Amino acid sequence: MTTLIDGKRTAEEIRRELGAAVDELRRQSGVTPGLAVVLVGEDPASIVYTRNKARAAKGCGMRDDLFRLPADTPEAELLALIERLNQDENVDGILVQLPLPGTIDEDRVIAAISPEKDADGFHPLNVGRLHLGLAAPIPCTPLGVTVLLDRYDIALSGKEAVILGRSNIVGKPMAALLTARHATVTICHSRTRDLADHCRRADLLVSAMGRPRVITADMVREGAVVVDVGINRLDDGRLVGDVDFDQVAPRTSAITPVPGGVGPMTIAMLLTNVFELATRRRRGL
Ligand code: GUN
Repeated sequence: MTTLIDGKRTAEEIRRELGAAVDELRRQSGVTPGLAVVLVGEDPASIVYTRNKARAAKGCGMRDDLFRLPADTPEAELLALIERLNQDENVDGILVQLPLPGTIDEDRVIAAISPEKDADGFHPLNVGRLHLGLAAPIPCTPLGVTVLLDRYDIALSGKEAVILGRSNIVGKPMAALLTARHATVTICHSRTRDLADHCRRADLLVSAMGRPRVITADMVREGAVVVDVGINRLDDGRLVGDVDFDQVAPRTSAITPVPGGVGPMTIAMLLTNVFELATRRRRGL
């Protein structure tokens, strides 16, 4: 029997729980957590993502601010906006949507965000804290994967976990989280020699390659858990994952669909991070 891991329903549950927690915080301390989302440029996918993030914050009772800057914004201007948001008492979380235009140094921008307001957990200090096992905001997509697995009671300790993709946003933090949960972790990437061979050893396969339907049934062990982080748009407009779902699903014990799997969890985790940052930063209140 295959369990379909329903990220949409789980994310809705978490957002409801957060909405109640936000109400409670406001009643008890008068604090309303605030998220500032910054988008530079006109990338259509980024426009949709940032709009959804700001709306979701508002939807669970948080303050939301969306700053849209033109693609030719000088880096200094973006850094000045971040500094203003760092100082703004009403802002608890700052998110700068990536990728940034090529004229802007992404690393410099991420490092300019106050680590105490780092809604994505991308600041080098927080990356270090995650790897040391210290409390930190955790990148939303990998955090969403672990929360989803926990809510479906999927054990991780001692499991062979294979992650496809080594990005700073997904692959690397995913490896840190699964290692902390006592899985044995392999990260595969574009130079991996025999990808299928690694995949077949996985009890848990997490794919974040961004290539449509490249994971086929012969690459998946019978009874494995498959988490598909890929969101790929086909020429006909349909969204599909990295996994050939129809072929692979019957072999698995549990699998996430695309859409409706990991995607909705990312935003729920962003809101969780902002709530956490708000309560930490304002603990003195
Ligand atoms: N671009 C793609 N995913 C993300 C994310 O999780 N956060 C930010 N800031 N940009 C992204």
